[in-house]
Amino acid sequence: MNPDLPVTFQNVSKRYTQRDEDFLACRNLNFSVAEGETIAIVGETGCGKSTAMQMLLGLQQPSEGRVQVLGCDPFKEFDALRGQVGIVFQTDRLLPWRTASQNIQFGLQVLRIPKARRRRIAGEWLERLGLSQFADAYPHQLSGGMRQRVAIARTFAIEPRVLLADEAFSALDEITASVIRVDLLRLVREQRTTTIFITHSVPEAAEVAERVLVFGRPGQVVKEVNVRDLSSREEAAAEIRIGLQMARAESRRCETSPT
Ligand SMILES: Nc1ncnc2c1ncn2[C@@H]1O[C@H](COP(=O)(O)OP(=O)(O)OP(=O)(O)O)[C@@H](O)[C@H]1O
Ligand SMILES: [Mg+2]
Repeated sequence: MNPDLPVTFQNVSKRYTQRDEDFLACRNLNFSVAEGETIAIVGETGCGKSTAMQMLLGLQQPSEGRVQVLGCDPFKEFDALRGQVGIVFQTDRLLPWRTASQNIQFGLQVLRIPKARRRRIAGEWLERLGLSQFADAYPHQLSGGMRQRVAIARTFAIEPRVLLADEAFSALDEITASVIRVDLLRLVREQRTTTIFITHSVPEAAEVAERVLVFGRPGQVVKEVNVRDLSSREEAAAEIRIGLQMARAESRRCETSPT
């Protein structure tokens, strides 16, 4: 395990108990992400992508193997990583009783940043995301796209070193999604944030990531696509689709083979 890499999964398995039976959500999962790298994880529904991310966030403990984030065990050293890992979810998860500015300040408040500094940081992020006029608007007064922008501003305001975006655009219409995707990518590149995008969309993975991991069931890397080495995003998308076919064939083989 290379301690210099911000994210490392080494032989990680995760077992859940479902209706008194053991259920494997990840099996021998191995991958790492380099400093400042942007990767995407794609895989069919239920293959263990979010489970892997919950282990990365320290919300679940691996049954076997090791997860390391910024040199820490995220489950055992949860507090050490506070404020260092940011998340953008599918839904904005804004607090309805707080204005856009107050929502952006939320994480800063948790980190005990003084009020005047919090306000200034929120103002800067509102401006960077074109929301200055809406600082005092409540979530119900904003469109879905604007709310997601506020959520992105809230995430970046804490200046996370690692960013997770789990289906961050899938609740938005395609036009809004593509605009916000560009915004988020711009920020990721400006801030040089180590980023993991989780998505069901092959074109999205090919567009946002330098490297794509195709997950099979139970959570494992079936194919790795190095977008940087390919001549076009279309070629990357084709490679990702081959990976998804391999994953499907593998999970069908497991379903039909006698145990
Ligand atoms: N807390 C839990 N307890 C029991 N089983 C769980 C738990 N969380 C997830 N699972 C199971 O683990 C498997 C993987 O789920 P996970 O949410 O990681 O998949 P996913 O790849 O993120 O799917 P999707 O693309 O639909 O978001 C699923 O079969 C799910 O039912
Ligand atoms: Mg998921």
